[in-house]
Amino acid sequence: MSDARLAVLSRRLPDLRLLTAAGDLEHYGRDWTRRWTPAPLAIALPTSIDEVQAIVRWANEQDVAIVPSGGRTGLSGGAVAANGELVLSLERMNRVLDFDAVDRTLVVQPGIILQTVHEAAHTHGLIYPVDFAARGSCSIGGNIATNAGGIRVIRYGNTREWIVGLKVVAGNGELLELNRGLIKNSSGYDFRQLMIGSEGTLGIVVEATLKLTDPPPSSQVMLLALPDMDALMRVFALFRERLQLQAFEFFTEVALKHVLAHGAQRAIDGDYPYYVVTEFDADDEPAQDAALAAFEHALEQGWVSDGVIAQSEAQAAALWRLREGVTESLASRRPYKNDVSVRISAVPAFLHEMQALLAHEYPQIEVVWFGHIGDGNLHINVLRPEDLPEVAFIAQCEHVTKLLAETLQRHGGSISAEHGIGLVKRAYLESTRSAAEIALMQGVRKVFDPNGIFNPGKLFC
Ligand code: MLT
Ligand code: ZN
Repeated sequence: MSDARLAVLSRRLPDLRLLTAAGDLEHYGRDWTRRWTPAPLAIALPTSIDEVQAIVRWANEQDVAIVPSGGRTGLSGGAVAANGELVLSLERMNRVLDFDAVDRTLVVQPGIILQTVHEAAHTHGLIYPVDFAARGSCSIGGNIATNAGGIRVIRYGNTREWIVGLKVVAGNGELLELNRGLIKNSSGYDFRQLMIGSEGTLGIVVEATLKLTDPPPSSQVMLLALPDMDALMRVFALFRERLQLQAFEFFTEVALKHVLAHGAQRAIDGDYPYYVVTEFDADDEPAQDAALAAFEHALEQGWVSDGVIAQSEAQAAALWRLREGVTESLASRRPYKNDVSVRISAVPAFLHEMQALLAHEYPQIEVVWFGHIGDGNLHINVLRPEDLPEVAFIAQCEHVTKLLAETLQRHGGSISAEHGIGLVKRAYLESTRSAAEIALMQGVRKVFDPNGIFNPGKLFC
């Protein structure tokens, strides 16, 4: 170990796995943004809370910044280590520690993969309902750090709703036990909620108590083809009124073409500008009839051009793939991502304004839209043309994001709905949070992390 600081750490924690090989630094130093060149000092892979506390104390003494790291599926650069930081990977702290049938809670370590949590809940006849396409590789710790949303928010809310307790190592190395699984706890500031969505800037989550719930009734999955943007919110209003929605997701034909190019099968003949994948409770005949009636009404009104209902689980999965496959199908193009939200009632006006803005600003550039329209959350992925250098492309996207941020501000929206601010959206935080709020956030950060060792440069400077 040539670095003197790392030598101290190794002497103090002889069993700690520390990686410094170039391949490891690259692997652990980046997330899915792939925009920054990874350059961490080393990777630490602790296996216990004691080790995490010792690492944090060492980082304070040695003035080394720490980047907490989970599955690194983040899309905002929150887990990027490009400035000699220690990456503190929680991937070896990945176990289920406890299940309580009375409390209906699952206690897990932060490095556990979301899908493993789903499976663990399932073995007890329950569900952990936060879900999204990266389920096979994202970790609960990362989900907590960004207050991850996903495809079932319309029914179940964000990660925030499902965390009833957290153990967190604060900036001075102290262990905080927050809320301890209580449903009711009116005893002052709720630091657990403060930690959720703090992007690794206030503490390191070392254990989480997750609330579980009953599985939903059996459902049906429907794919709808829509003629225009106005129809989108009309169909949403109709379906929300008549059905018990579990998900209502949209994507464009442009997005679909990428997914089809990655091996998915077209489910509706012809191409239509917009599509919706929706899932709703359909455990009895009246519920199924209501779905059909809603579809027929939308068809008569001209809000829907065509549609298909999955007849089997395999077909339902194939329909879901058309929506969930979008991110992966674009990954090799390293899109510039916008992840914005407005109140549902503001979606139609915002969509019109945004559509005009993007058409004007990106005339020659492919823009892929998809997202959680039922939550007012839209993903706008901008693809770099091959002949446009990366630097010029990013500069153009940042210029447009500034305009987009102004539009969002007028509509009372957010520059980050669910991916987090990280490095990517830091320059636009003021469009969503007031100067007074940001000043308070800076103050809070200083209290939890006085020496500024946690994820410096992320969220805000
Ligand atoms: C999604 O909704 O698929 C995720 O937020 C990922 C993405 O936006 O690329
Ligand atoms: Zn999303």
